[in-house]
Amino acid sequence: MEGFYPLKECPENKTFGENDTLVIFGEVFDKGYVNGLIEEALKNNMQVIYGTVGRRDEENKLRPLTDEEVKLKKQTNLINIPLEAGFDLDFDNANELTPFSQLQGIKRDGWLDVKLNWDSIAESKKNGQERFLKNTKAFLSEVKKLIKPNSNVLFAHTMAGGIPRAKILMPILNRVFKGHGKRFQSSKEFWDSEIGRLCAESFEEVTARTFQVLIDETKDFRESHSHVSYTAFGYHGCAALAGDEYKWQSYAPYLQGWAKIELENIAKKSWENGIKAQVFNSPEILTNSSSVFMGVEVCLYPLLDALKKENNGDESDVHKACRELLKEPQHLETILDYTQKYMVTDEEQSLSAWKNWPEHNKDDQMKEMREASDYLISMHKDPKNLMVFPLSEVVFKATGKAMFCESSSPTKPVWWVGHDLVAKTYLNM
Ligand SMILES: NC(=O)c1ccc[n+]([C@@H]2O[C@H](COP(=O)([O-])OP(=O)(O)OC[C@H]3O[C@@H](n4cnc5c(N)ncnc54)[C@H](O)[C@@H]3O)[C@@H](O)[C@H]2O)c1
Repeated sequence: MEGFYPLKECPENKTFGENDTLVIFGEVFDKGYVNGLIEEALKNNMQVIYGTVGRRDEENKLRPLTDEEVKLKKQTNLINIPLEAGFDLDFDNANELTPFSQLQGIKRDGWLDVKLNWDSIAESKKNGQERFLKNTKAFLSEVKKLIKPNSNVLFAHTMAGGIPRAKILMPILNRVFKGHGKRFQSSKEFWDSEIGRLCAESFEEVTARTFQVLIDETKDFRESHSHVSYTAFGYHGCAALAGDEYKWQSYAPYLQGWAKIELENIAKKSWENGIKAQVFNSPEILTNSSSVFMGVEVCLYPLLDALKKENNGDESDVHKACRELLKEPQHLETILDYTQKYMVTDEEQSLSAWKNWPEHNKDDQMKEMREASDYLISMHKDPKNLMVFPLSEVVFKATGKAMFCESSSPTKPVWWVGHDLVAKTYLNM
């Protein structure tokens, strides 16, 4: 597949150690992908500097974390300057409208034909960009005070999101991401609407452009430190075991996909200018951010097949932990048989999905994904305690290690991390 670069082995850490720093550009939440990268940095005795997106107060004003919120984070070196990106709550120049206020009062049956005031949105966007730039500069000037001279610095971009916080969007997106049959909503129809276009601009702003801002605003770090590299988490499908072979697969609709392609382009362009910026397209896992998309986790189950294959055919400790969560331990075999059948094994279908990625949803495909998700959940003792949680942890730990080591001596701007690499790396940890 042209343009698909899976990282095959986890390299050695060639650079990072005691005097060096990992800077998190975004906020760290429990279960979030970046925790694996942080674990690796701490194992190598590096200093970690944390960020926050901040919070919105009752009047929707952006504020730093309160002392109590900071305490709960339990993060030393947390720079409490709100790094929220996007513009849904930013006013236009007349101080009258925000994209959020434009979406107020829209009825469920009228959203498709809504016309938005794009001049006002353009002003809000510019104001949001200026706010984000100002706060990023303030954040980085605090970072500078904490970093040792001539040391190495790894910046980790974790930001993604940008769904405008308007009431009307939740029922629409629930149908787009989860609906089938009577509740099916075509993601293409949504994406082509004015509300869809607003989401697209917002996603690009939060998920992609923030990486460019980080790279632009850290020029002086590159000039004054020995090694400066950048990692970002991408998603562009993932290779999982289907039969005996690892095959690329993905799910639809992944509406952040266009913004993730832009994220890759930012890394590639920076790379051409000698900047070591890398995007790691990572497997689907369940985190605070992805749990709304229930169904995407179905392709995480076959990670157990990969772990067995890379463990010379023997089960791993993860198999044991997963069996304990099921109503009957032997349900694990049923689950793995089921998910193997679910995986796309048709070469042509997979190639067309790769070429046309990101794809829009179809009613029958949504039905299949939802039914698979519900069926797999029904095999568990407790629907709130799913196998995909330990599996997600395996993924973020192994992915974090691979990203950390590769960024110590970067070799390519865009890599894919598949279940093969995750399994091999995890088994050697
Ligand atoms: N969960 C998955 O399946 C998956 C797969 C591949 C890549 N990723 C990527 O991994 C990264 C971390 O996501 P995660 O799934 O661990 O979830 P997470 O909730 O732990 O992290 C999401 C991050 O986005 C930041 N963020 C959210 N809205 C923001 C805004 N308006 N402005 C600035 N920052 C904002 C948060 O602060 C947080 O750092 C993201 O880039 C995500 O796209 C996730």
